[in-house]
Amino acid sequence: MKKLLSFLLLAAALPFAPAWAQKESTYEFKKEDLERVKAMAAVLIGEFAAQCPVKAVDDKKAFEACRAAHFRPESAFRAHVKPFVLWGRPLGGDINAPVKEFRTTQFGPDVYSGTYLPMWMWDGTYDVDFVAKDGFFRITAGAGFRNELDFGQYPYPFWHEAKKWTDYEDANTMAIWISPKDFKIGQLTFYKRADKPAVAQLKRRHMPTFDGKWMWVDKDGREQPAPTLFLGLYSDKNPHLQELDKTYRTFALTMREAQCDTCHVPNNPDKMKRLVLLQTPLHAAAEIERSIKDVKRDRMPLDDSGNEKPLDEKMKAKFLTDGEAFAKAVKAAREWELANRTKVSAAGHVPVAAR
Ligand code: HEC
Repeated sequence: MKKLLSFLLLAAALPFAPAWAQKESTYEFKKEDLERVKAMAAVLIGEFAAQCPVKAVDDKKAFEACRAAHFRPESAFRAHVKPFVLWGRPLGGDINAPVKEFRTTQFGPDVYSGTYLPMWMWDGTYDVDFVAKDGFFRITAGAGFRNELDFGQYPYPFWHEAKKWTDYEDANTMAIWISPKDFKIGQLTFYKRADKPAVAQLKRRHMPTFDGKWMWVDKDGREQPAPTLFLGLYSDKNPHLQELDKTYRTFALTMREAQCDTCHVPNNPDKMKRLVLLQTPLHAAAEIERSIKDVKRDRMPLDDSGNEKPLDEKMKAKFLTDGEAFAKAVKAAREWELANRTKVSAAGHVPVAAR
């Protein structure tokens, strides 16, 4: 009975797993596909190294320029990524462990390109191979972590776990996993390759003890982490920012009432294999459509045993009203950015959003 129950739970959970995690294994390797991925790697790593070269680990200007470059909808990264990307470290630190077993966090391309990817500097070196056991192509590129940014420049305090922080500091390589089905990036993994030198020149940074707050107010009274409030990502001339802020605040309280934040936070209390984060405006914006859909169909929230635990009618209605107001503001703000951003010059200048 217990077995049947866990089978049913598993079956119920399956529709949530991104297609990336399954269905890719029937592919048969072709040499011309490898050539295609090599051409893609040249573009991708070429742009990464040009826009985000190796600099001092506290160079905030370089970081901001890198972030603006990745965040452009037409950036090499965004042109080559699936609608969701999985991110994290290899299982047990072993890059050759089965990639489908890696514990990851899922991100929309805007969250990943606007906050996570810019933390990395690229030396321009890379290899490309096909990993037969996983059924994916892989670009393995030299990358180093900026460990001396302001606290609020990181997307969340991932020093909440000491080992996580030092793994970031020690990493010198990024594996970029590419599906042979659509030649899109589905996963990125950072790790330390023993046979390669360090990419970032850094000293260990002693981080403060995590106080349990994923968002906070700094000593100058500014809310942090700033990029997760769209600061520096969206133009401050964007007329929808205020509405975005207002609707998010209302929605955040509703999400709290609906207890979404008991599971969807970085310390991953529910031990999701593919963690979905909702704890900041930027994270929530990337997941808002799916959140509305799931609550509408009573797929979320879950209870402690992973069973669906629908909200009561009143709470559900409130969630959908507040969620849709936020979704509308997100859409309007995004569309304004697309319509009003200064185009990047052919010379590949880092774009400055219409400020
Ligand atoms: C008890 C823990 C728990 C609670 C509470 C919870 N979730 Fe989830 N949520 C999960 C798990 C587990 C998954 C599946 C992730 C996976 O595929 O590995 C998930 C997945 C999701 C996804 C991605 C699903 C998809 O469509 O691919 C969204 C969006 C989501 N939850 C939103 C919410 C919202 C909104 C709330 C609050 C109303 C909520 N969750 C409450 C555990 C929880």
